[in-house]
Amino acid sequence: MLSFLRLLTGALALGGASALTNPFNRKILLTNDDGWAASHIRASYTALKAAKYNVLMSAPAENKSGTGSSMAPPTVLNITCEFDTCPIGAPPEGFNASDPRLNYVNSFPATSVEFGIQTLSPKFFKSKPDFVFAGPNVGNNLGPTVLISGTVGAATEAALEGVPAIAFSGATGAQISYTTLANTTDPLTVASNLYAALSVKVVDTLLLLPGPILPKGIALNVNYPSTTSAQNCTQVSDFKFVLTRINPPDANSADVPICGSTQLPTESDAIATLGACINTISVFNASTKADVDKETQTFVLLRLFEILSCLPK
Ligand SMILES: *[C@@H]1O[C@H](CO)[C@@H](O)[C@H](O)[C@H]1NC(C)=O
Ligand SMILES: *[C@@H]1O[C@H](CO)[C@@H](O)[C@H](O)[C@H]1NC(C)=O
Ligand SMILES: *[C@@H]1O[C@H](CO)[C@@H](O)[C@H](O)[C@H]1NC(C)=O
Ligand SMILES: *[C@@H]1O[C@H](CO)[C@@H](O)[C@H](O)[C@H]1NC(C)=O
Ligand SMILES: *[C@@H]1O[C@H](CO)[C@@H](O)[C@H](O)[C@H]1NC(C)=O
Ligand SMILES: *[C@@H]1O[C@H](CO)[C@@H](O)[C@H](O)[C@H]1NC(C)=O
Repeated sequence: MLSFLRLLTGALALGGASALTNPFNRKILLTNDDGWAASHIRASYTALKAAKYNVLMSAPAENKSGTGSSMAPPTVLNITCEFDTCPIGAPPEGFNASDPRLNYVNSFPATSVEFGIQTLSPKFFKSKPDFVFAGPNVGNNLGPTVLISGTVGAATEAALEGVPAIAFSGATGAQISYTTLANTTDPLTVASNLYAALSVKVVDTLLLLPGPILPKGIALNVNYPSTTSAQNCTQVSDFKFVLTRINPPDANSADVPICGSTQLPTESDAIATLGACINTISVFNASTKADVDKETQTFVLLRLFEILSCLPK
């Protein structure tokens, strides 16, 4: 099975970069919890479009960081949208008149993704999205933090609605406007673009093969380390993706065997490996936000095999 998948991936790769790009015309719904006008999500919107994905954004009108899986009917704006991107009195859901694929929802991340899947996707995609991309969040979501993260809450809602999803989070960043991306030398712009490029790499790999993208009810939690130069993590090729767990393992449970072990490192431990530029990928059950069994981990291992590495010894 594994060699077959690798062979197939290799064969597709031989087709060259253009043949590799979104061969199945995948439709991606993009959301976050830092708000629709935050720099990280807009950099990823641009990168996903450049990678030829069919992209649609549905994200909160305001910063809704830390709101977990909360949901509520969207309401008329009683303050302006973040960074003054819409006026007081604006409708509960709205869009950028120059780019109607950029939508805000004046509610929580999970409600934004629900609106994106149930109302916007039929209009723009004529179907459900193939995949939900949540984030990249400003700040890591590791271990118990997944339970309160709005980014994880959005990915979870998508998975529970039958759409495979990833919550992406990065250590470097700030809740600043997308207009700051115009300054390409600003370290925060560099971080937004780096996380966007790394996320496109994950999406390209996960969505490359035909067949189910993830098992039903399962989502991934992906975290990126700091991009500050002191850590020497400054370009995509500096980073390694490692398969991890959200929580420490039970003494008698076995994870998928990889890197000479049947216990995956925790995402908190792996990302803290100094100077190694480790990105973590944990597989979780959307019903519980807890780690999954080794069969489910194996599915993800096979799907992402090409980009996975071991921690340095
Ligand atoms: C966004 O919300 C979080 C959680 O309430 C808060 O910690 C953070 O400071 C807010 N960000 C801004 C820019 O207000
Ligand atoms: C503004 O709207 C929010 C979201 O519906 C609500 O929680 C808040 O109480 C409202 N504020 C005022 C001053 O009405
Ligand atoms: C709306 O889209 C236009 C064109 O891409 C862009 O110049 C403008 O900054 C966007 N505004 C918001 C709030 O997204
Ligand atoms: C861009 O960001 C750099 C680094 O923060 C700063 O030194 C520079 O002044 C900024 N340029 C502009 C035009 O704002
Ligand atoms: C980053 O690279 C420099 C130069 O190679 C090295 O001296 C430094 O120890 C590295 N930093 C880390 C955190 O590995
Ligand atoms: C997720 O957790 C729920 C509740 O414990 C369980 O019923 C379900 O089988 C789990 N799903 C997977 C795919 O592990």
